[in-house]
Amino acid sequence: MKKTALIATMTLANLAQAHSLDFAADTYTAKTAEVNGATIAYRAYEGIPYVKKPVEPEYQQINIYIPEAYFNGGSINGYSAATAPIFLPNQIGGYMPAKPGVPGERRHGGQPGADAMQTALAKGYIVASPGARGRTSPTGKAPAAIYDLKAAVRYLRHNDAAMPGDAEKIISNGTSAGGALSVLLGASGNQPDYEPALKALGAAEARDDIYAVSAYCPISILEHADAAYEWEFNGVNDYEKMDITMLDYKVERKLVKGTLDAAEQHVSDELKAQFPAYVNSLGLKNARGEALTLNDDGSGSFRDYVASYIGAAADAELNKNQIPGALGVLIPDPNPERVAAFVEENPWLTIDGNFTGNHVRKVDFVAYAKAMGRQKTPPAFDALDLSSGENQLFGDAHQDTRHFTAYSAANSAVKGAGTADAATIKMMNPLSYISEKTAPQHWRIRVGTKDRDTSHAIAAILAAKLQNSGKNVDMAMPWGVPHSGDYDLDELFAWMDGIVKGK
Ligand code: DHB
Repeated sequence: MKKTALIATMTLANLAQAHSLDFAADTYTAKTAEVNGATIAYRAYEGIPYVKKPVEPEYQQINIYIPEAYFNGGSINGYSAATAPIFLPNQIGGYMPAKPGVPGERRHGGQPGADAMQTALAKGYIVASPGARGRTSPTGKAPAAIYDLKAAVRYLRHNDAAMPGDAEKIISNGTSAGGALSVLLGASGNQPDYEPALKALGAAEARDDIYAVSAYCPISILEHADAAYEWEFNGVNDYEKMDITMLDYKVERKLVKGTLDAAEQHVSDELKAQFPAYVNSLGLKNARGEALTLNDDGSGSFRDYVASYIGAAADAELNKNQIPGALGVLIPDPNPERVAAFVEENPWLTIDGNFTGNHVRKVDFVAYAKAMGRQKTPPAFDALDLSSGENQLFGDAHQDTRHFTAYSAANSAVKGAGTADAATIKMMNPLSYISEKTAPQHWRIRVGTKDRDTSHAIAAILAAKLQNSGKNVDMAMPWGVPHSGDYDLDELFAWMDGIVKGK
């Protein structure tokens, strides 16, 4: 066969396989869910390809769930078929491939009762859960997962008129690696860097900015996460480490105890020393406009800023029990035994009390990190022996694992180890794109005080950068919460309803 004829035949074959990106409203299964004693009826549209030319069809698909009421002119929670927001929970954990989510399929780490998707349906949201490619496949390496989430957003916008729900009100949600991708999806809306790959996949021609971002414990800013981790945990030499096959927060973890050897402690010192220059280069400010910086020894206003979130969580925990005081007004329960036990359990807190309750006066951040304990060995993400999940994330079709920081490339334990290209690293870091012009105005970030999967500095940098860019940021480090997500659905949905309804 002549070459041109062969190409023509291949093109025809590709065209024949290409999926339509038009939403088929009549192809669904009728389902119900019980949420807080009420029954919610919805239509399930499952396994819809969101690109015309999928590379990994089992992951590049989306499940869409729509309350039945919206097909009968009904309304739920003040929303109608025209105004209902679209809740976009990704299921990504450990930067692994992720199938689209299904309401009621319990995930590790969520609160008991209805899950996030069922709760969303009961509250009148459209649920659209995209699958995405992941690090274990040669075609799932960075930045494949973010291409996929963007393609899913484009699919929803392309079908805005054909589907109930408002594609201008897409709210992304994710945990851990999924939290990082939720942040990145918001930060990178409509950025041209991603355009050629989206074209090649046959993504719908539509915008991919979203309305709001919810992220739990984002494993983000990966190329500075090693330095951040050592800034937090340097000097903590005992660790409880997990196998990378258990990175995914949905899998129950087994931890192996150990102690950093002299070489690892040296790596920790070198990485910790890199962090102040990085933080200082960001020009971050707190809400009062004061500079957030670090001294060479790791102390400084940025550390105080991170500690302030931990102090606020401790304060809320201390004062959560209310009792009737004078004139029947509720006051925090002074319960001296409970306060004494709290101080004994958390000796890194300085607390004093007055008639308004017991208040955290100081957080000793170094002692806090020691008390929480180290979970990763240095470098925590770009491992010198290429053994981390993130090394695999930054691999390519030819090399399964690669470095992605100059430090680990220079100190690699593997002969001939490759390094990811600058464009890929840029496209995985939300800070490459966050500015006043970044699309979503509304951001909610949560990372628990007991999370050791990445430094608390990562979420703090994101929050400060977003605030400094004029965004509405709801940021907290909930007390005692380990690496997990979806544990505060009442608050999450109150926040989402608030931003959508303008409260
Ligand atoms: C996840 C956890 C990690 O510790 C990590 O490095 C990457 C991802 C996760 O739970 O998704």
